[in-house]
Amino acid sequence: TVTPQQIIIDTDPGIDDAMAIFYALASPELDVIGLTTVFGNAHTTTCTQNALRLLEIAGRPDIPVAEGAHRPLAMDYRGPADFVHGIDGQGNLDLPAPETSAIAQDAAHFIVERVMAAPGRITLCPIGPLTNIALALLLEPRLADNLAGIVLMGGNAFGGGNASPAAEANILNDPDAADIVFGAHCPIVMAGLDVTEATFITGEQLERIGTVDNPRARHAAAILPFYREFNQREAGRDGIYVHDSTVISYLLAPQHYRSVQMPIRVDCGHGVGRGKTWPAIDRHRRGAWERRPDVTILTEVDAPAVVALELGRLGLSR
Ligand code: RIB
Ligand code: CA
Repeated sequence: TVTPQQIIIDTDPGIDDAMAIFYALASPELDVIGLTTVFGNAHTTTCTQNALRLLEIAGRPDIPVAEGAHRPLAMDYRGPADFVHGIDGQGNLDLPAPETSAIAQDAAHFIVERVMAAPGRITLCPIGPLTNIALALLLEPRLADNLAGIVLMGGNAFGGGNASPAAEANILNDPDAADIVFGAHCPIVMAGLDVTEATFITGEQLERIGTVDNPRARHAAAILPFYREFNQREAGRDGIYVHDSTVISYLLAPQHYRSVQMPIRVDCGHGVGRGKTWPAIDRHRRGAWERRPDVTILTEVDAPAVVALELGRLGLSR
């Protein structure tokens, strides 16, 4: 049997975060050794409570949760996307408090300790703003040398944004952190809107999740309507974009994606372009892009294949 790939998911749950976490926990190819939490869809403390609840619902209270940054590196927190995920980050379900608690260690120190103890073994999977990852890289300069890699949901390389016409939400929530992470010298895969907005689960497919009799699917069915209504209003289509789960699908089935290798810089200015991720097309590797490492930027996806993979792991046959 293949040794499961060890991952730490850094998350701002978040409805699509919840789907990604359940998806990872239902995949024997992956060993989730911890969750770290960050602000974004909701305030950090809310995200921590949600991370603990999700692990309990999935029957994995053994997995440690380490709470991370409460605000970005260099600006105030823009505030929760409560119109997308609910003020509680879980579709305003007002869930009971979790019975478990976060560990005492903060996210950045947890990441550094676990990665340095397992050189080359751990992949970081950030699916929220990149503040904790930047902090960990700043805390331990050797971190990148000891990472198997980073596979992140964020950015928009060749198209527009979603949190603004220029920027994707995770990057806009902390552009400075993102620019530090995209400069790390380790294998980095960017699952941006280029592929996540090409991956769509229809309303009819979402309805089927409600027919599956397991605690994860039942929770997913309870939180998805709020997110589906937002997508209906925003995208004018009945269904949801698959943002965070794209990281898990890539880990499980990279063959379903096409990519290009280019360095990325992030607009950290305070103008209209703030948060835009800019790839350096080959002939323009000059200026701020010089000496920046290549990033594997996902550009195309076999959407039906990865949707079928995720729904299958959520307990839906096929
Ligand atoms: O732009 C999509 C990203 O922003 C996802 O991670 C979603 O959970 C929100 O955090
Ligand atoms: Ca997220």
